[in-house]
Amino acid sequence: MSALITSLCSTLMFAVFVSADQKNITAESGQDVTLTSRAPNNNKIIVVEWSRADLESHHVLLYRDGQFDPDGQHPSFKNRVDLQDRQMKDGDVSLILKNVMINDTGTYECRVQRQREILSLITSVYLHVDPPGQSGGNKDGGREDGSLGLKIGLSVCAVLLVPAVVGFLIYRKHKQQQMI
Ligand SMILES: *[C@@H]1O[C@H](CO)[C@@H](O)[C@H](O)[C@H]1NC(C)=O
Ligand SMILES: *[C@@H]1O[C@H](CO)[C@@H](O)[C@H](O)[C@H]1NC(C)=O
Repeated sequence: MSALITSLCSTLMFAVFVSADQKNITAESGQDVTLTSRAPNNNKIIVVEWSRADLESHHVLLYRDGQFDPDGQHPSFKNRVDLQDRQMKDGDVSLILKNVMINDTGTYECRVQRQREILSLITSVYLHVDPPGQSGGNKDGGREDGSLGLKIGLSVCAVLLVPAVVGFLIYRKHKQQQMI
């Protein structure tokens, strides 16, 4: 019984982790936001591309062959974007977007190519920008709801696991009493 619950939980946790890189951030106009993204494994990063689906051929930020590529960047993002860590230590390819505007609302996608790999989508973040002076949205970074799925997963696990453990303890105690 408890084995079944444990395996159920790990399946659930797996599903949650796999979908974890779909984030939803709300910010207020004028804030600086960080769209977090981390490239897995350790091969050298060759290409980082942040884009927004509705901007078609224009990118938000493109890093290639050791430098940033201003050609093809949407003019709206000039001098407003940077990588959080230009060294991309530990695969950190998070994007900083300064002074967000209402029309920055959209789905941002991060694609990374590492040595001996193909360019692949690693993060998708939906950014919603509210007009200034609206409730919600803290000073910098905005609200991040990305971990919601994880929290739900953990709660469900706790809800399933706690009765199982308690049940097992009661069962064991019962057995011990029978033996005496
Ligand atoms: C993101 O969250 C906002 C409110 O918090 C909601 O209105 C919106 O539908 C969400 N979008 C996505 C793509 O989950
Ligand atoms: C957003 O609006 C600003 C000014 O109104 C404009 O310069 C910019 O190009 C717009 N950005 C996008 C992505 O359309």
